[in-house]
Amino acid sequence: MGRSQLVVFVVLFLLPLFNGGLAMAAGTPDGSEEWGYVEVRPKAHMFWWYYKSPYRTHDPNHPWPIILWLQGGPGASGVGTGNFEEVGPLDSFLKPRNSTWLRKADLLFVDNPVGTGYSFVEDKELLVKTDEEAATDLTTLLIEIFNRNETLQKSPLYIVAESYGGKYAVTLGLSALKAIEAKKLNLILGGIALGDSWISPEDFVVSWAPLLKDVSRIDNSGLMESNSLVEKIKQQIGDGKWKDATQTWSDLEEVISASSNSVDFYNFLLDTGMDPVSMASTTLVRGAARKSYSRYLDSLKTSPGSDGDLDTLMNGAIKKKLGIIPKNVEWGGQSNLVFEYLAGDFMRPRINEVDELLNKGVNVTVYNGQLDLICATKGTEAWVEKLKWEGLKTFLSIDRTPLYCGDDKVTKGFTKSYRNLHFYWILEAGHFVPVDQPCLALAMVGGITRSPVSTK
Ligand SMILES: *[C@@H]1O[C@H](CO)[C@@H](O)[C@H](O)[C@H]1NC(C)=O
Ligand SMILES: *[C@@H]1O[C@H](CO)[C@@H](O)[C@H](O)[C@H]1NC(C)=O
Ligand SMILES: *[C@@H]1O[C@H](CO)[C@@H](O)[C@H](O)[C@H]1NC(C)=O
Repeated sequence: MGRSQLVVFVVLFLLPLFNGGLAMAAGTPDGSEEWGYVEVRPKAHMFWWYYKSPYRTHDPNHPWPIILWLQGGPGASGVGTGNFEEVGPLDSFLKPRNSTWLRKADLLFVDNPVGTGYSFVEDKELLVKTDEEAATDLTTLLIEIFNRNETLQKSPLYIVAESYGGKYAVTLGLSALKAIEAKKLNLILGGIALGDSWISPEDFVVSWAPLLKDVSRIDNSGLMESNSLVEKIKQQIGDGKWKDATQTWSDLEEVISASSNSVDFYNFLLDTGMDPVSMASTTLVRGAARKSYSRYLDSLKTSPGSDGDLDTLMNGAIKKKLGIIPKNVEWGGQSNLVFEYLAGDFMRPRINEVDELLNKGVNVTVYNGQLDLICATKGTEAWVEKLKWEGLKTFLSIDRTPLYCGDDKVTKGFTKSYRNLHFYWILEAGHFVPVDQPCLALAMVGGITRSPVSTK
C-alpha cells in the first residue's frame, strides 16, 4: 500500500458508551482494520489498533486466533515498533511485510501503558507505577474491545510479549483470567508467549558480564567491575530498594558499554545502534548506550525525507491516516515519563506470576534469541529453573527437537515442551526475534496459536 492510498478511505464512527467507559473508534470501510481509544480511567486514554487477517478461516473446531502484541520499554510503542518494525502487515517504509504474523492470526496492537505511543494521560500522575496497574488498564481495554463483539469472543486471545512486555503479559494474563471468572470479560485466553522477556531482572544482570567475557567482548577487569555492581543490585533487590536497584542497573549498563567498547545490548555480536530495529522510543537500554542511540536518531532526523524513520512516520502519515489522534498528542511524547513512573517496579521479578499461570493450566511459551544480551538466554534459563511448578523437573530433563525453516537445511533453533510449558531457542537472532528470524518466528507463532494455517 502506498502512502497516497493510506490517507484515503478512513471512516470514523463513535461507539456507544460501554460499561461506563468512553470508547472512540475508527476503521477502514472493509472492516479489515479498526482502531480507537479507550478511556481506561478518567483522563487516561489507551490507543489500540486491530487488524483482521485476510487469511481468517471459520471452522468452529479450529478457531482463528488473535494475537495481542505487548511491546517493552517501558514506554515503547507496540502500535509503532511491533507493528511497523516487527510483525505487522507493512514495514516502516510502508512496504508489505511477507512474514507478517497476519498470515497466522489477527493482530491487536496497543500503546501500553498509557503515556506510550499515541496513548496519553491528561495528568501525569495518572501514569502507572506498577505492572499490575498496567494490567488493570489492559483488562479494561480488553473488556471494551471483546465484550461488544461475538466474533472476537470466539477467537482465542494469545498474549505475545517482547522484552519488558513480558512483565505486563503475565500480570495481564492473571488479571484477565480473574475478570473472565467474574464474568466481566468475555474472552478465551489461548496462552501467553514471552519473547526475550524481562521476567527476572536479577537473573539477566547476573548473566551479562560472564557471557560477554566468554565471547571476548569484555576482559577480566570489565568482568570484575561489573560483578561488584551486580552484587550491589542483588543486595538492593533483597532489601526491596527497587528504585535504587534501577539506578544501579543503569550504572551497570554504562560499565558494560565502556568495557566492551559499546556492545549492542540487543545483539552482542554488534556495536550499539547497529541492530535492525530503529529504537525511536525508550527501551530497556539507558545510560551511555541510549545517549549514543539518540545521537544516531538525531542524525536520521536531520536528513530530509528520511523514509523509514519511525518517529517521522508515526507523527506524519500514520497520524493522518488514523484521523482520531488529538492534535496536541505527539507519538511517544510521554514515553520517558512512562519509564520514570515505573522505576519502582522495573527491577521486580515476575517469576511467581509465571508459576501461577502454569498452575492454572495456561499454555506458557518462552522464546529467546541466541544473541540477545539484555534478556540473554542464559538469564532466561536461570529464571525458568527457579519455577516452583511441579512439571519443571521433567521439563528440564527432556531432549530438545531441532528446528528448520523453509527449504533451508541449517539448524535454526530448538524447542521442547512438557505439559503447558514450551521453550524455543532461536539461533542467530538477537532481542528482536521476528526481525532476525522471520521465517522461524512465523512458524513458531503459528504453532503457539494453533493457527488453522500453521502447517502451510
Ligand atoms: C513469503 O513467504 C512465503 C510463506 O511464508 C514464502 O513461501 C515465500 O518464499 C516468501 N517470499 C519471499 C519473497 O520472501
Ligand atoms: C467484530 O469483529 C469482526 C472480526 O474482525 C468484524 O468483522 C465485525 O465487524 C466486528 N463487529 C462489530 C460489531 O464491531
Ligand atoms: C495447550 O497447548 C497444547 C498444544 O498446542 C494443546 O493441545 C492444549 O489444548 C492447550 N491447552 C489449553 C488450555 O489451551
